[in-house]
Amino acid sequence: MMSGVLEVIKKRRSIRAFKSDQISDEQLQTILQAALMAPSAMNQQKWHFSIVQDQDLLGKMVEIIKDSIMKSDNEFLKSKASNPNYHSFHHAPTVIMISGDERAPWIDIDCAMAAQNIALAAEALGLGSCIIGSAGPVFVSEQAARFKEKLGMPEGYKHVIAVSLGYKAGDNPAAPDRNRNVITYVK
Ligand SMILES: Cc1cc2nc3c(=O)[nH]c(=O)nc-3n(C[C@H](O)[C@H](O)[C@H](O)COP(=O)(O)O)c2cc1C
Repeated sequence: MMSGVLEVIKKRRSIRAFKSDQISDEQLQTILQAALMAPSAMNQQKWHFSIVQDQDLLGKMVEIIKDSIMKSDNEFLKSKASNPNYHSFHHAPTVIMISGDERAPWIDIDCAMAAQNIALAAEALGLGSCIIGSAGPVFVSEQAARFKEKLGMPEGYKHVIAVSLGYKAGDNPAAPDRNRNVITYVK
């Protein structure tokens, strides 16, 4: 018998098409509570969550990310970014941008733990999510300081990862194949 958590873990997929309806504040608070309950190294909790629901601001970030991709030699991302409908956050109505204290050990892992809790909480509520690792260029661009300020990122914090959130525009897609050949048993 699978417990609720295992079912949610199995069901969660990266959702890349969202309805434009905003999620409720109650849903958001439940999701944030799950983020804050994530484990962190030495219980340091040196993370920060910027809840972005300003579509203009997200659009400006997308432009910077798109520019950076088009100047790179990553053909996979270039083919995605050259689609006129390309949107790094998949047009999600809410994006949680997670930053962390640059000086804190294991901070990337802490933020990733919180991101996974967000994704699982979203699925448990019937909402869609997608972990977004491609926002980095925003925070090394000429306008980085302005974005950090807008997002309320504390001094000395770096962007780590983002999570797009919203109502799913369709059913969950099938799970991409998982490689089972990655496990060593030592007895
Ligand atoms: C660190 C990280 C960064 C990711 N960045 C992106 C991204 O920028 N855009 C995107 O659409 N998906 C992104 N993903 C989602 C993965 O593509 C997805 O998890 C993977 O293909 C497996 O599919 P599933 O999540 O549906 O199981 C990211 C996932 C992780 C863990």
